[in-house]
Amino acid sequence: MKRMLLCFAFAVIIGIGNVAVMDTGGLSRESFPMGFVFGTSTSAYQVEGMANKGGRGPSIWDVYVKQPGHIANNDTADVADDQYHHYKEDVDLLAKFNFDAYRFSISWSRIFPEGVGKVNWAGVAYYNRMINYLVKKGTMKKGSIF
Ligand SMILES: *[C@@H]1O[C@H](CO)[C@@H](O)[C@H](O)[C@H]1NC(C)=O
Repeated sequence: MKRMLLCFAFAVIIGIGNVAVMDTGGLSRESFPMGFVFGTSTSAYQVEGMANKGGRGPSIWDVYVKQPGHIANNDTADVADDQYHHYKEDVDLLAKFNFDAYRFSISWSRIFPEGVGKVNWAGVAYYNRMINYLVKKGTMKKGSIF
């Protein structure tokens, strides 16, 4: 389960990465207009892990998934793909598969563990590290806050 969500994302990437050996019906990257951005995306809760660590507060997902009957096998994303620790490997894969952009979400409760007020600087530092690595790898970043 740990890397299932990211594996799904990368299954899509691998499909695109193998475009030369697949029957694409004539569709290729060049079929798209100049400036078309190929990207992939994740959701903070689905990939970050460290749900109860690093100073992060609970989000509605943390509460929802712990209510019986909502999620098969009572699974949670407490660890998920652990992108918090593996973001470099994930960004390296984006670069390897020639993606232009990575849309990710910024967990509000990682920045504001109590909802408002006090800032969790460890959370800010995590996003800084990841964004800096995306910049280093030349990947466009698109952040949204959840
Ligand atoms: C999920 O949690 C509920 C409530 O604690 C429990 O009754 C049920 O057996 C759990 N299911 C699994 C697959 O662990």
